[in-house]
Amino acid sequence: MNPDSQPAMMGNAPAFAAILRASRLVAVTGATVLIQGESGVGKELLARSIHDSSPRCKGAFVPVNCAALSESLVESELFGHAKGAFTGATHERAGRIAAAHGGTLFLDEIGDMPLSIQAKMLRFLENGECQPLGQEQPRKVDVRVVAATNRDLASLVAAQRFRQDLFYRLQVVPLVLPPLRERHQDVIVLTQAFLSRFASQHGVAAPAFSRSAQELLRHYAWPGNVRELRNLCERAVIFHAGQTLDDTFVQGQLFPHAILPVQSEERLCPDAGGIHAAMVLPHGGLSLDTLERDTIRAALVRTQGNRTHAAKLLDVSRDTLLYRMKKHALR
Ligand SMILES: Nc1ncnc2c1ncn2[C@@H]1O[C@H](COP(=O)(O)OP(=O)(O)OP(=O)(O)O)[C@@H](O)[C@H]1O
Ligand SMILES: [Mg+2]
Repeated sequence: MNPDSQPAMMGNAPAFAAILRASRLVAVTGATVLIQGESGVGKELLARSIHDSSPRCKGAFVPVNCAALSESLVESELFGHAKGAFTGATHERAGRIAAAHGGTLFLDEIGDMPLSIQAKMLRFLENGECQPLGQEQPRKVDVRVVAATNRDLASLVAAQRFRQDLFYRLQVVPLVLPPLRERHQDVIVLTQAFLSRFASQHGVAAPAFSRSAQELLRHYAWPGNVRELRNLCERAVIFHAGQTLDDTFVQGQLFPHAILPVQSEERLCPDAGGIHAAMVLPHGGLSLDTLERDTIRAALVRTQGNRTHAAKLLDVSRDTLLYRMKKHALR
């Protein structure tokens, strides 16, 4: 792979494919996009692919991590400053917004943008003007903004930690990337693609996962989402090139509490009776409490929040399910 080119976004799960389709439609416009989703779901990759398939693809893609900027630096980092604008401003500085002129500004972790800068950011989004610190005249810039966050911006607005007007201005086109646990059908597609990508990058033969190892991968909650799967595949390539890896290897790589029970119609050992046949106690043990919470959550995800169906899946009464949901503060 050319080091400058980014990998394509892979996956066919309906919820994921719908977001990809929407992103291709919006890419060709100059509309502001707000990408939301858990850590590791591919927000930055999606932002880059929107830039790459936009008419601005020849321009710069300028990422800014709003969480990494100190409050005192953020304004000059984004908007730039004139020489002498503050103590230590020995040179004029253009700033990241100006650097994205003709291209795309990627405001990552936008939920962490200091409140003090949000009003100025809103003005820039409204009129395309960038006013460097210490400069009287604002400069007109031609910048497309894509923002991303793994935080719930609506609750930050409710807690008055994020400006409501900026929230609405950003979410002209909101794209919410689903977590990997809600697109299990993509796990094996991604695994195979990562294994062959890393095998060719490291110049070794790709390892393979046995059927039961693949089942475990498919029924894992992936708290670290695609990043966690990608890293697991890279480790497998580095340490086990050319080998077939079984479920013991996979179990050693996963967080025990996030291993979900395999549903009865998909279980590993159809003759062994019920989902318990598919549960393997990890070497390091596990927390029964966490397992119960994750299992209930998985059932609710699978039934799209339908409690009656979830109770059936878990073979408990609806009242028992409600009681346990309350115990684990699940909704
Ligand atoms: N659909 C996908 N196909 C291929 N690779 C993917 C996909 N989604 C994510 N990745 C890869 O997973 C890793 C994490 O993705 P990315 O950095 O875009 O996540 P993120 O949502 O921005 O995470 P964070 O919130 O932690 O910043 C990257 O290496 C990225 O290339
Ligand atoms: Mg990111």
